[in-house]
Amino acid sequence: MTQEVRQVDEVSQIPEITKQIEGINQDVGQGRGVYISTYGCQMNVNDTERMYSLLEMQNFAPVDKPEDASLIIINSCSVREKPVHKVYSEVGTFRKMKEKNPDLRIGVGGCVGQQEKENLIKNQPMIDFVFGTDQIDSLPYLVADSFMDREKRISAKFQHRAPYHIETMVRNPGVATFVNITKGCDNFCTFCVVPYTRGREKSRPLQHILTDIRHLVKRGMKEVTLLGQNVNSYSDSDVDFADLMAKVATETEVERIRFTTSHPKDFNQKLADTMAKHQDKIMEYIHLPFQSGSTRVLERMNRIYTREEYLEKIAMLRKSIPNVVFSTDIIVGFPGETEEDFQDTMKMVQEGGFETIFAFKYSPRPFTKAAKFEDQISEEVKTERLNRLFDMHDKMSFELVKRYEGQILKVLVENTDREEGKVHGRSTGNKLVHLKGTPDLIGKTVDVRITRAFPATFHGELVQ
Ligand code: SAH
Ligand code: SF4
Ligand code: F3S
Repeated sequence: MTQEVRQVDEVSQIPEITKQIEGINQDVGQGRGVYISTYGCQMNVNDTERMYSLLEMQNFAPVDKPEDASLIIINSCSVREKPVHKVYSEVGTFRKMKEKNPDLRIGVGGCVGQQEKENLIKNQPMIDFVFGTDQIDSLPYLVADSFMDREKRISAKFQHRAPYHIETMVRNPGVATFVNITKGCDNFCTFCVVPYTRGREKSRPLQHILTDIRHLVKRGMKEVTLLGQNVNSYSDSDVDFADLMAKVATETEVERIRFTTSHPKDFNQKLADTMAKHQDKIMEYIHLPFQSGSTRVLERMNRIYTREEYLEKIAMLRKSIPNVVFSTDIIVGFPGETEEDFQDTMKMVQEGGFETIFAFKYSPRPFTKAAKFEDQISEEVKTERLNRLFDMHDKMSFELVKRYEGQILKVLVENTDREEGKVHGRSTGNKLVHLKGTPDLIGKTVDVRITRAFPATFHGELVQ
């Protein structure tokens, strides 16, 4: 058993996992490698870490290439565009390996597993087992059974009643890592599959989160990102998200706090004030998806805010935190979106002054209301609008980031660059900054003067 697994055992307040693993066949992974292929959001990246940790307890050895594995897991994402197809095509690439090695087991987890369940096995017999997003802790059992009898298995029930009690299982937390605080989503935006693939929204108990962060700090973590589909609706008895952030800032030794993703409807003055008060620790960066600049479209999306309300929140936050940096998510070509609606989205990008945007063509998802709307937009129009949006934003962001040149930013150094003699890290506003430096800078926060600023990366020099 590795040192990392012992670290997990230390989280004494949350012992369910180590208890659950008792009585399970710990020899099953002996001499076998495991490879996990991960798609989607940070939640999935975290889930993959959890899967590796659980499987290491069964003595599976993580490997870097699927060819070296006896167990391959696809941790899938269903948020946009042909996700089921992606799973089948990846499984197809393992065909030769499966023919050569009948011992090889292939499992599918994540949001496509949750969504498709037995259909995956019916359509692709090379898949041995499927498990849902609430069933990660049953993975060791599924795997052991699969190696023993080759029966196909599906485990995709939601644990609706069970409290959200997990510990963060990361094998190598590094300088910056993620800690889940909520899971699931109850917002039911009409375009989004997440409420169906992640289930009802639940928050972890405050004390569990604080314990996790303290342990990760002991293992070298300097920066934590609090993670959830909708973090700012966090609630544990009378503790809300602002209270949680204040507690993390004052009751743990973590140096930096980030969070993602927040919903505009749950961003209030109290949260802005908390961010301002703890600015030494809470980073001045907010990812705040607006999705559409047209109130008419926002209503059909069930986003529960208008264009004006969103812009008011931005103004409120800029007033409370003068250097705050925003990024956003945008959907173009939502059903019924007119050229005028789209122009409102283009204007919103300019008015919000977003240096970074994540924009997507609307993609109809199973179970969702918008997939049944009759006024779907053609692929050509979606593509043309997306290109126009990116063209406009590219020009705009080049101009916007020029203001950073000559500024001194506080950068937490995360790692060495591929280019020798260089390191990189992130500023308080979440800008990726490259600078000359040696590995001993990793984990340190340093002052960096920005010499060149491009939309995606900055270059700078250490201020002695
Ligand atoms: N919980 C986050 C978003 C999670 S999904 C929030 O509420 O902001 C990440 C992003 O994917 C969304 O913000 C949205 O822009 C995009 N997205 C979700 N469903 C989509 C769909 N059906 N088609 C295109 N983009 C979608
Ligand atoms: Fe999806 Fe909306 Fe929930 Fe975000 S808030 S996960 S977009 S339903
Ligand atoms: Fe994808 Fe599921 Fe995350 S659909 S974006 S992996 S919550």
